[in-house]
Amino acid sequence: MDKNRIIVFDTTLRDGEQSPGCSMNTEEKIKIALQLEKLGVDVIEAGFAAASPGDFDAVSRIAERVSNSSICSLSRAIDNDIKQSGLAVQKAAKHRIHTFIATSPIHMKYKLKMSEEEVIKRAVHAVEYARTFVDDVEFSLEDAGRSEIPFMKEVMDAVIAAGASTINLPDTVGYRLPHELGAMVKELSDFAGDRAIISVHNHNDLGLATANTLDAVMNGARQIEVTINGLGERAGNSALEEAVMAIKTRRDAFGDLYTGINTAEIYPTSRLVATITGVEPQQNKAIVGKNAFSHESGIHQDGVLKHQETYEIMKPEDVGVFKDSTLILGKHSGRAAFRDKIEHLGFDKVTDEELNAAFERFKILADKKKDVSDDDIRMLITDEALNQDKTYELVGLQISDCSNGVPTAAVSIKFQDQIMQDAAIGDGTMDAIFKTIDRLTGYNGELKDYKVTSVSEGKDALAKVTTRVAFDESSPAFVGHGLSIDTMLATAKAYLSALNSYLSQKERLSKQTSHQV
Ligand code: KIV
Ligand code: ZN
Repeated sequence: MDKNRIIVFDTTLRDGEQSPGCSMNTEEKIKIALQLEKLGVDVIEAGFAAASPGDFDAVSRIAERVSNSSICSLSRAIDNDIKQSGLAVQKAAKHRIHTFIATSPIHMKYKLKMSEEEVIKRAVHAVEYARTFVDDVEFSLEDAGRSEIPFMKEVMDAVIAAGASTINLPDTVGYRLPHELGAMVKELSDFAGDRAIISVHNHNDLGLATANTLDAVMNGARQIEVTINGLGERAGNSALEEAVMAIKTRRDAFGDLYTGINTAEIYPTSRLVATITGVEPQQNKAIVGKNAFSHESGIHQDGVLKHQETYEIMKPEDVGVFKDSTLILGKHSGRAAFRDKIEHLGFDKVTDEELNAAFERFKILADKKKDVSDDDIRMLITDEALNQDKTYELVGLQISDCSNGVPTAAVSIKFQDQIMQDAAIGDGTMDAIFKTIDRLTGYNGELKDYKVTSVSEGKDALAKVTTRVAFDESSPAFVGHGLSIDTMLATAKAYLSALNSYLSQKERLSKQTSHQV
């Protein structure tokens, strides 16, 4: 094991998915996992297999698809959780089980209602049981940020002896200041010595997650648990892009420490996660925010033009941010130019089918819009890849509304090669669209969230709509994506996309159950 290498453990698909409004379906999780693999993440925490059949399905399918990163599943220190994790990661080329129990006085007294001896006993059993499935077991002392050092040492001794090779010290509630966290990590990593790798997992409740992660690295942590765009429970987790770029940019401070991240994949990964979850990073977010590399003031612009490093400590291209290339596509551009462009944008794994479908959509768009920007094309490809489930397809939409009028929508959709049409009125145009679709499909969706953003600039910009819709009480809300120059058309597509996603997940889970019977 190279002592200078920092293991990057990404938990976007587990802690990140715990962010409000960030639930993803299996196909979306697979897409993100494949992109995380391309990014060079060492360990992908693909989910919490025991949480639901959907979570188990996602972890096990990711385990089958990813080969370069280790696939990990989270489990409480409970036999059934560990068993589900073990079964779900079984087929991965490299796999890990991550198990945890809280060690802080407040958690042990009020949440677990367990004594220190009971916690140690449970922790040891969990690790031993996890080792019956995999060789690589990580143990987390939940709420380590508020735990007592002597007790943590006792727990560490016991779980290392039981077979844990990574000890994670989560600052679960984002309480620690950097110098305090650094001191804790120093003491515990000296204590662990060569017996285990010390990992950190910092929450951002005080806006200190990345600072804490970096201080931990300087004090001996060799694994960092991070998420793309800093997603995660409450205020989120330490952001992968921030920690990785700080280590890379400040070699003067971090010396020979390095990660295996291919930083040019940072921005594409951030875009994919934002598109899938519908949660955009704030504009001024470090590294991946829209403004991260734009200079507004004249003095700054002048400086950058004279010498880039006057106001830029990183090159945009180092994180995969490219200014729009000079090759602008329009309605006369052909398939070859289109393929060239998407390869230049980093989509090297697009299937011929996806390429053809995106090219058809590009032609329609280019008829309406003079110049089609790189962002438009990026979005067309992503949207095509996200909408592979086409049980219901929107064929036509007609809406009417005016002040004091009755908002009405007429919708036609294709289902099993049949065109179905209906119309309904609603409290507004959107409501009328959703009601008509519900009537046509027989499903009664409950809209949990709706977001619209413009992909590029200008009055003719593409509208990207993200919906979260629940179709029954027993399953989570499903995310849908719609893209069009017309916002209402994008809205109808996004609603149907959520329904398609729900139906395909339902079908897959019912097939699995019938196999098991
Ligand atoms: O924040 C936390 O403590 C966690 C653990 C389960 C690692 O997410
Ligand atoms: Zn966490």
